[in-house]
Amino acid sequence: MKNNYSVGQASSASNLTTKTTIFYFSGTGNSLWAARALARELGNTEIISMVDWDVNRHNIDSQLIGLVFPVHIWGVPKRVLEFLDQLPAMSPEYIFAVANNAGQVSNTLVQLHKVMKTKGLVLSSGWSVVMPSNYIPWGGPGSSEKQNELFAEARIKISNIVREISLRVKMPVEKGPLWQRIVFTWLYKLSFPHIPKMDEKFWVDQRCNQCGLCIQLCPSKNIIMQDEKLVWQNHCEQCLACIQWCPQEALQYGKKTPAYSRYHHPEVKVKDLLKIN
Ligand SMILES: Cc1cc2nc3c(=O)[nH]c(=O)nc-3n(C[C@H](O)[C@H](O)[C@H](O)COP(=O)(O)O)c2cc1C
Repeated sequence: MKNNYSVGQASSASNLTTKTTIFYFSGTGNSLWAARALARELGNTEIISMVDWDVNRHNIDSQLIGLVFPVHIWGVPKRVLEFLDQLPAMSPEYIFAVANNAGQVSNTLVQLHKVMKTKGLVLSSGWSVVMPSNYIPWGGPGSSEKQNELFAEARIKISNIVREISLRVKMPVEKGPLWQRIVFTWLYKLSFPHIPKMDEKFWVDQRCNQCGLCIQLCPSKNIIMQDEKLVWQNHCEQCLACIQWCPQEALQYGKKTPAYSRYHHPEVKVKDLLKIN
């Protein structure tokens, strides 16, 4: 039987202390939480926001590189693609990815693998971690019992991922069923050019007290205050940080969000994202 898995030379426990750099992107903290959980177990790991990272300021000297980010519309978010564009040529020992999603990783990690290949980068392994959904236009994150179940499963998965990283396991990336990859990849390609203007559906109800948190949180500086009104400027990334973190729950998207619960990872605080973004 063909074995698609391979275990690298670096398989001793001492390799757990090899310096790791994890680059992450996160709207509501799931990916930041996952990056922190990985870092805790890997040890000697620095965590850098893809939003904050500047090729001119940060050297990458780690042999272990991780990319941790959410799945957006069944594919790789624009921010992650732009981050990859900026990466200098490099050949670390091992690059891994963790795509956080709400149950439909679809073709995301295959897409990442292909994009990286065009840049001369080798994705050694890629895992899907399922977390509560932050895609509020389709509903809330589910009951707290369901969320806790997902967090418990995510913790176990992350420990397994760390074990495989420490063994430098190289394996095909995790992916969804074929039908999903065909249909949803087509939808991703169709939607992708329209993402910047999807912010046209945001609106603000009477609870907005103009605290400006949404402006500070937006990774693409897409929200401004004009004549005491919030204005989205059509370069949205759809991370949904603005609507999910609004302390007044005054931001809305389309018709249904007034009825839906807001979500952010319970162990991530807004200051964690502000500090790094
Ligand atoms: C615009 C958008 C699109 C999304 N598309 C998908 C998707 O295609 N498949 C999926 O399983 N989850 C999808 N999600 C859910 C997120 O991937 C998931 O909740 C993730 O854990 C959020 O991570 P974050 O808190 O780090 O941003 C989407 C979320 C957003 C905001």
